[in-house]
Amino acid sequence: MGGELRIGQCVDRYRIERVLGRGGGGSVYLAESDTGEDVALKVMHEHDLTGVARKRFEREADFVKKLQHPNIVRLLDFGYTRESGLPYICFSYLEGLTVKEALRLEGPFTLGRILRITHEALNALEAAHDMGIIHRDIKPANVFLERRGGREVVQILDFGLAKALEGERLETTGLTRTGYRLGTPRYMSPEMARGEDVVEASDIYSLGLVLAEMITGHPVITEDMHVAIMLEHASDRPLPLAPEISASPLAAIVRHAVAKHVDQRYRDAVEMRAALNEIEPPPEPVAVPIPIPPEPDAPTIQMTRPVVVSDVSMGEALTKKMPRPPPVVQDDAPTVVQGIRIPEEPSTMEISADAPTHAWRAPPPPLKLETPPELSLWVAITVGVLLAVMAFILGVALIV
Ligand SMILES: Nc1ncnc2c1ncn2[C@@H]1O[C@H](COP(=O)(O)OP(=O)(O)O)[C@@H](O)[C@H]1O
Ligand SMILES: [Mg+2]
Repeated sequence: MGGELRIGQCVDRYRIERVLGRGGGGSVYLAESDTGEDVALKVMHEHDLTGVARKRFEREADFVKKLQHPNIVRLLDFGYTRESGLPYICFSYLEGLTVKEALRLEGPFTLGRILRITHEALNALEAAHDMGIIHRDIKPANVFLERRGGREVVQILDFGLAKALEGERLETTGLTRTGYRLGTPRYMSPEMARGEDVVEASDIYSLGLVLAEMITGHPVITEDMHVAIMLEHASDRPLPLAPEISASPLAAIVRHAVAKHVDQRYRDAVEMRAALNEIEPPPEPVAVPIPIPPEPDAPTIQMTRPVVVSDVSMGEALTKKMPRPPPVVQDDAPTVVQGIRIPEEPSTMEISADAPTHAWRAPPPPLKLETPPELSLWVAITVGVLLAVMAFILGVALIV
């Protein structure tokens, strides 16, 4: 198989579509299952033929299968390729970006987003720690921000380095072993860098580094030499933190999470989450109802969503619904806002019964020349009475 899978190639019941990522544990592909479902297929590197790498791969599948949690990627299937016997893990395919990719594209995150992401990552770590599993490779590339129906949901990936706290003597962590991953130096806990036993707080240290990176947009340690990075983690010196971190409301939490000594750090996810809950989240953008002036024949619509200036570029349909600017009294030209033509106000107006009449008077109704029927009756009666009175007076005069 030459190490890499080709686009269109089938691995058992999965057809490879494209590469999603490559890391120490294997290559991850977007694939389509025989039922038409999109999946993420992680296939072990062929050159990793040491027994340890294979065992780790199998153990990753075992851990993820056990860890069913809303913030941990879901395992769908596990198997060995028919062709070469390489192990593969089939995960649910996630749409979105890793924290690493999002930071590269968008720069530092907002406080509200950082709080949400850290909170959800801690939930996932708590679940893993409760099962006696330490992740050991928490870093921005292993924290996935899944886009789900307009929301962003954290999914922790890559339990390929994870270790069970109890009952496992498969390997020792140390710098002397070769041929497989030791972890990612930039995010490695001091315990791992020193070759000591890892504990729950080791994951907290790595998450503290991710937290700091979400605030500044760049890693706490920017050094490139692996040995220098690991010496920095292993030393007793506190990590140098950027001024943006000191200025952030999360400064104390970052410092506590990345404390070099385990006993000066948050003991576990629960402790760190409690500290996080003390931070006042910034107010979410408020949905402002925009009253829409009724248009002829158009149903009345109310928009209840934050007003975004860039909405002006969203086309005429939306722009028509924006509040109109004050009328421009100049010539008869249609009002134009940023190149989009606003329809003119209707030229006729209806005046309701209680509208002030001094402002705009309706034309008087046309004169009616016809005499109403009631008036003719009264005229006839009056004329009749007058004639009767005159006849009476005339009669009296003749007699006299
Ligand atoms: N379920 C998934 N859906 C989408 N992308 C994924 C998924 N799993 C992994 N990836 C992508 O592949 C990359 C490597 O996956 P990971 O499990 O971390 O493998 P490795 O052990 O090789 O680092 C991730 O950083 C991410 O970009
Ligand atoms: Mg990874």
